Amino acid sequence: MHKYETRTIAPVTSVKGEIVVPGDKSISHRSIMFASLAKGESRVVGLLRGEDCMSTLKIFQAMGVEVEERGEDELIIQGRGIDGLLEPDDVLDCGNSGTTMRLMSGILAAQPFYSVMTGDQYLRKRPMGRVIDPLREMGAKILGRDGNKKAPLTIDGGGLKPAEYHSPVSSAQVKSALLLAGMQIEGTTTVYEPHLSRDHSERMLCYFGAEVESFDGGARVTGPVVLEGREVFVPGDISSAAFFLVAGLIVPDSELLLKNVGVNPTRSGIIDILQQMGGSIELLNQRELSGEPVADLLVKSSQLKGIEIGGELVPRAIDEFPVVSVAAAFAEGVTTIRDAKELRVKETDRIAAMCDTLGKIGAQIEPLEDGMRVTGGKSLSGGTVNSFGDHRIAMSMAVAALRASGEVTIEDTGCTSTSFPNFWELLENIRS
Ligand code: S3P
Repeated sequence: MHKYETRTIAPVTSVKGEIVVPGDKSISHRSIMFASLAKGESRVVGLLRGEDCMSTLKIFQAMGVEVEERGEDELIIQGRGIDGLLEPDDVLDCGNSGTTMRLMSGILAAQPFYSVMTGDQYLRKRPMGRVIDPLREMGAKILGRDGNKKAPLTIDGGGLKPAEYHSPVSSAQVKSALLLAGMQIEGTTTVYEPHLSRDHSERMLCYFGAEVESFDGGARVTGPVVLEGREVFVPGDISSAAFFLVAGLIVPDSELLLKNVGVNPTRSGIIDILQQMGGSIELLNQRELSGEPVADLLVKSSQLKGIEIGGELVPRAIDEFPVVSVAAAFAEGVTTIRDAKELRVKETDRIAAMCDTLGKIGAQIEPLEDGMRVTGGKSLSGGTVNSFGDHRIAMSMAVAALRASGEVTIEDTGCTSTSFPNFWELLENIRS
């Protein structure tokens, strides 16, 4: 559980400097999971040491995986192979992490032992039926609260058969859960989704030596796979970089260089959105790191304009809509976000949360059933807002505060340690 803290952010005249954002959260989770399931030793460099990823790490340690922590962001993991995990002798705590609970559901459903997963007050409210239902179709024996829809979950693992599943939502967590179950059993499991969601599982499983096919509209795995220990370099998290991209654009006379950021096309929707809004963002030094595309991002202050956002762009920027709404508040004209109903079931209802918090300091923002409409150009005032315990709401409001006319006090900011432990320090470093 994160600490309860309150922070007050004063406006700035410009932001400048070079920033290295912490490792990608999705890739960090997967590197711990796949290294644990691989045969032999893996080295993970650049890992995000946020609370979410530490939940995943503790879960594998509870199943017998030996881990050596080297310095701030490096782990040596002794993998036990797909059939080497031990039955945990206590409840597995996923904390605030939806990725941990949903991906672990797929892994544990195929393991020949009993396990129980729970999480914090926010995670226990989030929908788990989206992974439980298809896993049960594969033969999994999973039970959950509220008619098998919510955690705590109990899993009596084993006895699965492969599946062909058409997911109603574009969700990497659903897709990954089924691939991770399917990869452990004989046969081919295919998952189709309306628009392609992040493909980190597919890429990293291939990097660990499995054959996973990624295609436009889904992914497929034929099991059982054998994963071999590897060295994984985790790129910086574009979802964390997003806060500084928007800060660099909306604060006048600003220039920021964000080093070593993952720019996987299934995640880089935020760059497309901000560029379409007229933002100056350049991709420099493009390269590949452990199967993931990476670049340095140079951002300069820009006059933004409102745009319409929907369709395939939505899953490619799903975690960035809180900070997109901040960019929209400083843009000329109207920005409309649609097809983003998923925002209602994130760490909090992010549509309601951003309308409440940005609205409180004077933005013109209205909720839509599946998104929001923001009319830009209203000057924002100081005030007091609450993060609702959601890391991305807290950080988005800190960015908005940089250009408000007075100080903004944000209540409940300790949650930022789930994904971005040094956010406040980096924010302080770029003020001028
Ligand atoms: C994630 C997938 C996304 C995202 C979450 C991390 C992942 O969720 O919002 O922060 O690591 O697979 P959905 O797959 O539910 O959209």
